[in-house]
Amino acid sequence: MSDWSTLLEVGGPLAALGGGAAYTRARHPGVYWPTVGLPISAVRLLCSYGSVMEACGLTVQPSRLRALAVTATTRREVRPVPPRRGIIRPTSTGLRVRLRLAPGQEPADVAASAERLRHAWGVHAVYVRDVKPGVVELRLVGFDVLSNVRMPRKAGGGLLKVPVALREDALAFVRDYRTIPHQLTLGATLSGKSMYLRHLVTGLAQQSVALVGIDCKRGVELAPFAPRLSALATDPQQAAELLPVLVREMEDRYDLIKARQGIAPDAQDEEITSDIWGLPEHERPVPVVLFVDEIAELFLVATKKDEERRDEMVTQLIRLAQLGRAAGIYLEVCGQRFGAELGKGATMLRAQLTGRVCHRVNDEASAKMALGDIAPEAVFAACAIAPERPGLAVAGDTSGGWSRIRTPFLSLANAAAVCRETAHLVPDLPALASFRPAVPLRPTDAPASLLKPASITE
Ligand SMILES: Nc1ncnc2c1ncn2[C@@H]1O[C@H](COP(=O)(O)OP(=O)(O)OP(=O)(O)O)[C@@H](O)[C@H]1O
Ligand SMILES: [Mg+2]
Repeated sequence: MSDWSTLLEVGGPLAALGGGAAYTRARHPGVYWPTVGLPISAVRLLCSYGSVMEACGLTVQPSRLRALAVTATTRREVRPVPPRRGIIRPTSTGLRVRLRLAPGQEPADVAASAERLRHAWGVHAVYVRDVKPGVVELRLVGFDVLSNVRMPRKAGGGLLKVPVALREDALAFVRDYRTIPHQLTLGATLSGKSMYLRHLVTGLAQQSVALVGIDCKRGVELAPFAPRLSALATDPQQAAELLPVLVREMEDRYDLIKARQGIAPDAQDEEITSDIWGLPEHERPVPVVLFVDEIAELFLVATKKDEERRDEMVTQLIRLAQLGRAAGIYLEVCGQRFGAELGKGATMLRAQLTGRVCHRVNDEASAKMALGDIAPEAVFAACAIAPERPGLAVAGDTSGGWSRIRTPFLSLANAAAVCRETAHLVPDLPALASFRPAVPLRPTDAPASLLKPASITE
């Protein structure tokens, strides 16, 4: 009897503790990691570091001096040495540790063992980052951070830099217009493209930037942001009027830069500039970001007359993509597909869009349109995105790097509220004044009806 009661006294709380930990791990991984997962993984890493590195083939033969010293002092067998390990730095989503590579090793050797390391230390994923020659950083991520996205506190925003999504290695994915001026975002319907745009609009709304929208879905995606938009076109006809104005604005800005180069032939070297960022602040025109939602709508034509208009618009978009960066005009293009079948100029425009984000797609060909020029593995990763995870995407740039990202959820109402609150930041751009969208009255702002409703029972 006493055996049973002892078993119950000890086993009961232990079972409850185990069950609680399993529940927290499944339902609240963000709480489980710092309280249980982190200490366990840190101890595993500390205790098994040498043997795991040896099993992964990441050790090297010790130097002769070291081998002599070991035999002389301890008389133990001389074992291969793993890369020297730095201190373990815990984070809210995982832990980081730096390794000094042994001579003859390269970061790719460690990256090739990432999967083995993740199993050995019981973490969700291991990523390897090159810090400086000879040093790599291992980023251990404790749980799937993309299942419930929470942006890191220090996300690294700034002028024309928007932390728009979370990467799978728990770092913020920052859309930086000054490094990657133009971007293409592709994805099937309901894959999360508009959510991505929503984050960009709200991020940029708080900065001194002019936001221009072309939304040929009659404005359903971008019209809620009207208070903060400098211009909005909601059908191809309006887009055909807006684009030449933007091209003229770009040409005026080039003239401004040229004038600056011309007026002061004796100017200091650092005062000579070939883009707006070298102009003195009071002369510098405000940057413009052009959002195009559903680009295919601009390409599709029904009549011969529309064809001419289409060709003109495509040429103007290509010119903006080719020359816009120096004039501070950036493109953010969204669509379901963007291939040669859209017509003349489509692939040329696509080639100008350096940044690539591909949400869930319905076929491999669509993923190839976005990521084919980047990496074949990125195309496979995009094809594997499940419909249950809207907002998940593969982001790459044409330098060949890519990673999985996911936007946090942001309701349209909250995004629209940000645009209303920042409406006073709309910059003064006379060229675009006639395209400024009418701001719809909110129901609460509508004047109360003066008619008293009569009861039907009267
Ligand atoms: N990161 C996210 N987290 C949670 N839900 C999301 C996320 N991104 C998008 N969603 C949801 O997925 C649905 C589709 O998103 P969205 O409207 O952005 O898709 P879309 O690609 O623009 O579709 P369409 O091409 O039809 O316009 C919406 O209901 C949205 O709330
Ligand atoms: Mg959309």
